Amino acid sequence: MTQLPKSMPADGMSAYAYFLTVERPSIDDLTGMMFLEASGEALYEGLAGAAGPQEAKDILLKNGREERAHAHRLRRVLRRLTGKPVEVPSPDENPYHNALGFDSLTREVLDGLIGAEFDGDRLYNVWADSLDDPEAAKLLRLNGREERRHGLRLRKVMDILGA
Ligand SMILES: [Fe+2]
Ligand SMILES: [Fe+2]
Repeated sequence: MTQLPKSMPADGMSAYAYFLTVERPSIDDLTGMMFLEASGEALYEGLAGAAGPQEAKDILLKNGREERAHAHRLRRVLRRLTGKPVEVPSPDENPYHNALGFDSLTREVLDGLIGAEFDGDRLYNVWADSLDDPEAAKLLRLNGREERRHGLRLRKVMDILGA
């Protein structure tokens, strides 16, 4: 199984803050991001559980499934850049699992998450610009585009909930 690199922050919140400072990601950084993305599906499932209307739940679950797909794209990026296989961690292997720990859907939580999704779009494009491998860069940009869509979907959730 793939371990979270020792150089990575111990919790997901710190990892998120740290990644925003990185312009040229190392292999450890990309691996850490794979762990953070892998924790995103459970995060969204928790929020979907706290949302009343089905339409809001469905949107949150769709974002969650795509976070898992983002972790798998990072796995492919790592494979390309290192030539070595890595695995997306399961929840019990992932120190970032439940690290963000939201279980209520307040306006504050949604605002924070929308900001994080748009940050993610910008960050993936910065990271893509730093890579020499065009295919790896393309995969990161795809993640970025979907983070932006997640932010827009969350605005819709806010409307539905009247938050
Ligand atoms: Fe993501
Ligand atoms: Fe996202």
